[in-house]
Amino acid sequence: MKQSTPIRALRCSLLAFANDPYRNGGDAVRFLPDGVAVCADGKLQLVGDARDVLRDLPSGAKVLDRRGCIALSGFIDAHVHYPQTEVIASRAVDLLRWLEEHTFPAEIRYSDPMHAAAGAAFFLDEMLRAGTTSALVFCATSATSVEALFTAAEKRGLRLVAGKTWMDRNAPSALLDDPDTAEADSRELIRKWHGRKRLGYAITPRFAITSTREQLARAGRLAAEFPDTWVHSHISESKGELREVARLFPDDADYTAVYDRHGLLRQRAVFAHGIHLSESEFARFHHTGACLVHCPGANLFLGSGLMDLRAARQADRPVPVALGSDVGGGTRLSMLCNMAEAFKVAQLRGETLDPFDLFHMATRGGAMALGLAHRVGNLAPGMEADMVVLDPAATGMLQHRAVLAGDLGDTLFALMMLGDERAVRETWVAGKPVAGFDGENDE
Ligand code: GUN
Ligand code: ZN
Repeated sequence: MKQSTPIRALRCSLLAFANDPYRNGGDAVRFLPDGVAVCADGKLQLVGDARDVLRDLPSGAKVLDRRGCIALSGFIDAHVHYPQTEVIASRAVDLLRWLEEHTFPAEIRYSDPMHAAAGAAFFLDEMLRAGTTSALVFCATSATSVEALFTAAEKRGLRLVAGKTWMDRNAPSALLDDPDTAEADSRELIRKWHGRKRLGYAITPRFAITSTREQLARAGRLAAEFPDTWVHSHISESKGELREVARLFPDDADYTAVYDRHGLLRQRAVFAHGIHLSESEFARFHHTGACLVHCPGANLFLGSGLMDLRAARQADRPVPVALGSDVGGGTRLSMLCNMAEAFKVAQLRGETLDPFDLFHMATRGGAMALGLAHRVGNLAPGMEADMVVLDPAATGMLQHRAVLAGDLGDTLFALMMLGDERAVRETWVAGKPVAGFDGENDE
């Protein structure tokens, strides 16, 4: 084992995926009841049975014994707004009113560097406490808000993708930019941050309602010039939004066509929601390689609708689907809570989701949708060593329920239905424990 930093190892049950359980069933799951994950240089060096791995471990290696817990790759939140933690759980009748009444006023404050720095630190620490180690993040319109988030993420060593929000109409003037400044700011931010350490840049037009055709076209041209950046936006979330998009873009056949016309559908283009998409819109996503992020918590909170996950993942033209908290439209950063909401939304759609499918969607599935599966989202040698250590007996109710727990699937199901930040014993970033519910990490 060649390494230049100390070796740390984690001993507990380990959950990994060889494939997608939605398509491949139980064969996709790899579970080691007594496993060890060995980390050095920020990466996983070895993942295997304790019996075998411990025998060959160098004597200086530090082993954290977390037997009784289950570790898997850290959660990936594929759609979240960091400036909105201040307006999380703010009451409104629907999406458009919530944006106007709560969200836009909060985002204006993120042109203040001190405010943005404090907000970024708070957001990332809360995210880590919830076991989420990577995210695709909306900032506010100001470049300042992006600088603050990338600076805080770099300090914590995170793999994170983010970008400045583009808006040149239908928002308060203090939040608007124009096509020239949106492009110039984004170019500068790409130059400075894209590919630096573990960070990546997303070209981020908020949604069709808040950008003119000229601005969307400019975003599309920039996306073509920098094909390895991400595109990040919203699509087809609420009925009111759909009516407004149809009014603003009468020449386009549907919502997807608005983005498609401007070159915004491509590999690494990530659109939150997609609740009201038609069959031909799903097909367009499939053919362009763009993906969707299911945000069930936000969809319920804002009353936007119930996403048809089965339709999105239809076998003859599957669209990759990741899972997002969409905080502050969503009310919980915990991906366990968002998995539970996804389960309930699917129940209302007549589909009973499998816990392995949901744990996969929140880890490897998210990484695949974002084009990051070669780096994060799974436990395997060579992958970056971001992990979440879950305690299936973290709360009184979980312990009580565990009395009747059956197999691994049942344990995971109870964890996601009843768990939240309290179930996160520890979060590891780049091979080191950085956060945990009780704060104790033996360091
Ligand atoms: N659509 C446009 N902006 C937003 C936002 O901030 N949150 C959600 N949920 N939907 C949006
Ligand atoms: Zn959103």
